[in-house]
Formats: sequence, structure tokens, C-alpha cells
Amino acid sequence: MTSIVVSSQKGGVGKTTVSINLAYAFARAGWNVLLVDSDPQGSVGLSLTRQSRKLLGFFDYLGDEGRSFDSLIVPTRMETLSMVPAGQGEGYELGGGYSESVAKRVDAFLGEAEIKGYDICIMDSAAGLFGITRDVLVCADAVLVPQQAEPLGIRSIPKMLQGLTELRSQNEKLQILGVLLTMVQRDLVESAEAANGMRQLLPSAMVMEAEVARDDLFLKASGKGVPVGVLQGATSLLDTFNSLRMEIESKLGLSR
Ligand SMILES: Nc1ncnc2c1ncn2[C@@H]1O[C@H](COP(=O)(O)OP(=O)(O)OP(=O)(O)O)[C@@H](O)[C@H]1O
Ligand SMILES: [Mg+2]
Repeated sequence: MTSIVVSSQKGGVGKTTVSINLAYAFARAGWNVLLVDSDPQGSVGLSLTRQSRKLLGFFDYLGDEGRSFDSLIVPTRMETLSMVPAGQGEGYELGGGYSESVAKRVDAFLGEAEIKGYDICIMDSAAGLFGITRDVLVCADAVLVPQQAEPLGIRSIPKMLQGLTELRSQNEKLQILGVLLTMVQRDLVESAEAANGMRQLLPSAMVMEAEVARDDLFLKASGKGVPVGVLQGATSLLDTFNSLRMEIESKLGLSR
């Protein structure tokens, strides 16, 4: 199994949106996918189900050694896509530093997911590289960094990539997939310049070729609790996430 964390320094850049739609793209391609919410805000569950406030989830597993993996799994309408919401557990201190015991529990979680036959585990995360996000990154195989295409957004990226590189001293296997430009508006000068600027600033291997356009359909999709690809008129967005999925497969050497 390959675990991919969707992580960013800044909040609101599209992590949850990317996690949901990337998981959907992998699942449509036939991979057995587990989408996990490691953000205590619980946005994945809120976006995909109505009942998630009551569901158990990832934080219940972290906080309780007796909690079974199976009790966390929420099936979706798609056979190849299951979800683990953030859950109720408050056993984890927000903003706390890296914790070896929590990281061990994250490792156990990923081990169980592998045994259960999942091929891909996509993990949404809370913004920043501290606390639970750090614990998750210390255990994961790869990280994808969404970044909004706007002038101010770009400044945080070199620092974020440096932070991830430093984190590899704790997790040598962590592959930095690169930056994914999100909310790109190619017809708006400022957005296009920010997107192009990012591609000039970073080595090409550090920026995904696929970029996610700004589109109101994303808001509609989260209002309806579905991935954007199931909505009418979302063909090009479906193509975007499919291209992203193939790029990631190629970078990680994954094949079915
Ligand atoms: N490509 C896009 N086009 C238009 N709106 C988008 C796009 N991507 C995300 N959004 C919207 O922007 C808002 C923030 O997105 P999202 O919740 O995915 O970001 P996030 O990085 O997970 O935020 P947080 O740091 O709070 O977890 C949401 O309302 C979402 O619907
Ligand atoms: Mg989020």
C-alpha cells in the first residue's frame, strides 16, 4: 500500500478538495482506496457524509489502543472507495510537537489498512508541519503540496519544501511529489502570473504538470457531499484529477 499525505503550510489552499477528488480518481481507475481525514476539523467527513459528526474515526484510533480498525471504515457508493473520518477522539493535543507514541499508532493504522487490502491511502491533513500532521508525515510514503495560484501564496512554498526535506531525516522513504497549483484562473493576469512564477521558481520535478482550475462546481460538490466529478459539466475537472492520478502513479512507480 502507498500512503499519500496532502499537506500545506497555509490553510484554505484546497487540501480537502484535492484529497477527496484525487481519492475518487484513484478509485475510478480501479485502485482500492482509503481516504483518511487526519485534520481534527473533520472536513472530509463533513464534505462526504451528513452523519460524520457522530462517526468514529482516525482520532479515536489514535487515542484508544483498544479501538479496532474495522470500526472506523465508512463505505461509499463506490466499491473501491472507503473513508475514515476524523472522528470524535480528543486524545490528541492540537499543536503539540511530534510524538513518537502517536506516530507508532499512525504506523499501526497504515499497517492495518495494508492488511485489509487497500492499495492507496490518501490522507487529508491540517495545515502546517507540526502536531498530528507531522506524525502522519513521519509514517507516510509520499506528500503532495497544494498551493493556491495567488501572488502571496507563493512565498510560503520554498519554506514548506525545505521543511519537508528536513522531515526526511525522520522518514527517509518520504517522497515529495511536488506542488500542485490549485484555484488557477488562467484568464486572470494575477493568477496566471502566480502560477507561471511558481513554475519558474521551482525545479520542474517539484511542480505537478496538472493544475486545478478555480471552478464554482467545487463548492456545489461539497454542498452535495460528493466528489466534483459526479456533477454534470465537470468533465474537464474529472480529466484534471485523472491526469494528476497518472502523474502520481508515474512518479511513484505504481502500476496495476
Ligand atoms: N479549485 C477550486 N475552485 C474553487 N473553489 C475551490 C477550489 N478548491 C477549493 N475550493 C474551495 O475553497 C475552500 C477551501 O478549500 P479546502 O477546504 O479544500 O481547503 P483546505 O486547504 O482543505 O482548507 P483547511 O486548511 O481549512 O483544511 C472551500 O470552500 C472549497 O470548496
Ligand atoms: Mg481541509
